[in-house]
Amino acid sequence: MNTRFEPARGLSGALRAPADKSISHRAALLGAMASEPLRIEGYLHAADTDSTLAAVQALGALVEVNGDAVVVRGTGLREAREPDGPIDVGNAGTLLRLLPGWLAAQEGRSFTLDGDESIRRRPVDRIAIPLSQMGAELRAREGRFAPLEVHGARLRAISYELDVASAQVKSCILLAALAADGATTVGEPARSRDHTERLLLRAGVAIHRNGRHVTVVNADELLLEPLQIPGDPSSAAFLIAAGVLVPHSRLLIRDVGVNWTRTGFLRILRRMQGIVLGDLEDESGELVAEEPVSDLDVAHGALEGTVVEAEEVPLAIDELPLVALLGCFAEGETVVHGAQELRVKESDRIAGVVEGLGGLGADIEATHDGFVVRGTGGLRGGSIDAHGDHRMAMMGAVAGLASREGVEVIGMDAAAVSYPGFLEDLAELCS
Ligand code: S3P
Repeated sequence: MNTRFEPARGLSGALRAPADKSISHRAALLGAMASEPLRIEGYLHAADTDSTLAAVQALGALVEVNGDAVVVRGTGLREAREPDGPIDVGNAGTLLRLLPGWLAAQEGRSFTLDGDESIRRRPVDRIAIPLSQMGAELRAREGRFAPLEVHGARLRAISYELDVASAQVKSCILLAALAADGATTVGEPARSRDHTERLLLRAGVAIHRNGRHVTVVNADELLLEPLQIPGDPSSAAFLIAAGVLVPHSRLLIRDVGVNWTRTGFLRILRRMQGIVLGDLEDESGELVAEEPVSDLDVAHGALEGTVVEAEEVPLAIDELPLVALLGCFAEGETVVHGAQELRVKESDRIAGVVEGLGGLGADIEATHDGFVVRGTGGLRGGSIDAHGDHRMAMMGAVAGLASREGVEVIGMDAAAVSYPGFLEDLAELCS
């Protein structure tokens, strides 16, 4: 589906950000691993998180969906059923990386995970290596891609240092550690999102953090009280960018998750002088699923270029294409370092932003680990290919609203992977 976005005259109004994708995936998986039914309020219904519900059902969990509320009746930590065929993870990298952590602990049972064309290009050796050290047997195509076979075993606790700061890989090991013998420690080169740690703590697991290391002790069972899913800061980021870039805009986005490990984009934006008011990282109020939330008040304003360094990258990883877009409108240069992980996301997002924004008139260049954008006062417009990537499609839409001549997005339907109501929300804010 190709969709055209004309220059907007200003966005205004208030709305709630869609539910958090990362936390929805984790809630459904932990529900499947728990001994008692878990009620999840405000679950994200999008292609990725629907894949997770289907996967846990294939593994023996019972799932009841009632509007935005989902009840998962799990099988327990060690009782996942061997499904009849491969588990289809669709486009969901988070499911591809987290689920094997649970499956690795299913002694004597085997599972195959596969997904779409994009999933088959995403590396899984990063989880296969630690899970093999724990005692499971994993086989991947060419040693690193789906289809991925997981043969469950009795697991040993390990200490493991990650090569890349990846919340997906860290979470995979933490899930496997629940059924291993003893205490497992995972170290990351830079902090990444910590939703798994927060939910495990809520489930009564002995888990603690020491700087960049997290240690989890094995558990007999998970016990979770009903959960509410907070708004997704990565989805809200598209609305925020539109509000900042389109003249005369003023918006309020409600109930956005503002956990420090997810607010890197908001810190970068504030450094660029973007106007976003809200209580970032304030954990003193009421927590939602152990996460701080805030309303964010966004207004249009002039931007300045900035430099994003490697340690900030995992805290803003999914929003970096938007940083490139903001850079096109900022005074001076915007540079992103240490973001080579962008090459192995749903698409190669370094190539995608450079070609895509370049085609709309941006002065942008790829580097080996990021990009450099020189602000030219805005974007002309044209057409941009999402390459099947939800975040690239939504970035193209925002570029169109802020451009001088409008933008056609090729493959806008990809937005349904994380934000199925995106076009309706934009239309409401632009009316
Ligand atoms: C996610 C972690 C990030 C992010 C992805 C969701 C998660 O991936 O890009 O969209 O839910 O853990 P990595 O941890 O592999 O960087």
